[in-house]
Amino acid sequence: MKRIRAAITGIHGWVPEYVLTNEELAKMVDTNDEWIMTRTGIKERRIQREPGLGTSDIGAEAVKGLLEKTGTKPEEIDLLICATVTPDYAFPATANIISDKCGLKNAWSFDINAACSGFLYAMQTGAQFIQAGTHKKVVIVGAEKMSMMVDYTDRATCVLFGDGAGAILLEPTTEEVGVMDVILKTDGTGRQYLYQKGGGAVKPASQETLDFKEHYVYQEGQSVFKFAVVGMADVSAEIMERNNLKSEDVAWLVPHQANLRIIDATARRMGLTKEKVMINIDRYGNTTSATIPLCLWEWEDRLNKGDNIILAAFGGGFTWGAIWLKWALNGKK
Ligand SMILES: CC(C)(COP(=O)(O)OP(=O)(O)OC[C@H]1O[C@@H](n2cnc3c(N)ncnc32)[C@H](O)[C@@H]1OP(=O)(O)O)[C@@H](O)C(=O)NCCC(=O)NCCS
Repeated sequence: MKRIRAAITGIHGWVPEYVLTNEELAKMVDTNDEWIMTRTGIKERRIQREPGLGTSDIGAEAVKGLLEKTGTKPEEIDLLICATVTPDYAFPATANIISDKCGLKNAWSFDINAACSGFLYAMQTGAQFIQAGTHKKVVIVGAEKMSMMVDYTDRATCVLFGDGAGAILLEPTTEEVGVMDVILKTDGTGRQYLYQKGGGAVKPASQETLDFKEHYVYQEGQSVFKFAVVGMADVSAEIMERNNLKSEDVAWLVPHQANLRIIDATARRMGLTKEKVMINIDRYGNTTSATIPLCLWEWEDRLNKGDNIILAAFGGGFTWGAIWLKWALNGKK
């Protein structure tokens, strides 16, 4: 019997309309376009400004578009997994709310929090249900409203993040396409460098957590940078080596979009030229779980069946990893 693999059979993305430019940020904090561009590669990011809307609204837009595009009825979906660090509520899961907003009557659903590696963790989880033969249509959505946990008076973090969502449909295939290999890693000793200090079980919300602005992203940028630049490059090289993939065999690198310098270092380590690297950090900034599916969505028309694609991420936790994927969709559109 042929092995069942999980293949991406549809992809869609969504970002809010409002564009927050470097120029506008320079009016809010002591920064400038030149600093932001040279240190991060970010020019602008999208922000969800409408009051009363949450991450589920951003995610639901991506999922609705995905269903429409692939001609999938909502009731056909067996499972929806949402990767997010900005859930609508501590509970219920944002995945439950997205499922409701999209009419997924027959799906069960849950959230995964692995910070910037969330999409890779969720994709591997979903792929397992497909490979086991128990699920036929699984939606993975990376959705974030990062603006809700960004302090727009802190120049060190407010320039980095943006809002958005990307969703994929995973289905079984017996062809030699889809998820080929996966490496995922966790090192919880990194938690001190990138996290939200207040509002969780260790430090529940209080006047003190509000006064010390502990409900925002806290990041020691330089420390995270050092780990990220090594971690993402190492894991990408490792997945190539153990599968005997040479740089000429790889059609695309889809890196998490946290910092252009980290992306460049990963591509160099893999021996890839710039033309093979998907980069949209300039337009969206770091959308955490959404960066990788947003890239795939924007590059979809340039992908061919059988293309070897390496997805790679590094994030808070620390979490990091890489997925080797053979693109399953037929030809260029
Ligand atoms: C955040 C990051 C862009 C900062 O870049 P950096 O080169 O490390 O900059 P530093 O934090 O060392 O700051 C250098 C100087 O710029 C200043 N600075 C920080 N943010 C600034 C801004 N937006 N505009 C102008 N100056 C700024 C700092 O105050 C510091 O000034 P000082 O030298 O007078 O103290 C970078 O560290 C980074 O990308 N880190 C990793 C992020 C990441 O991958 N996260 C994981 C996934 S989410």
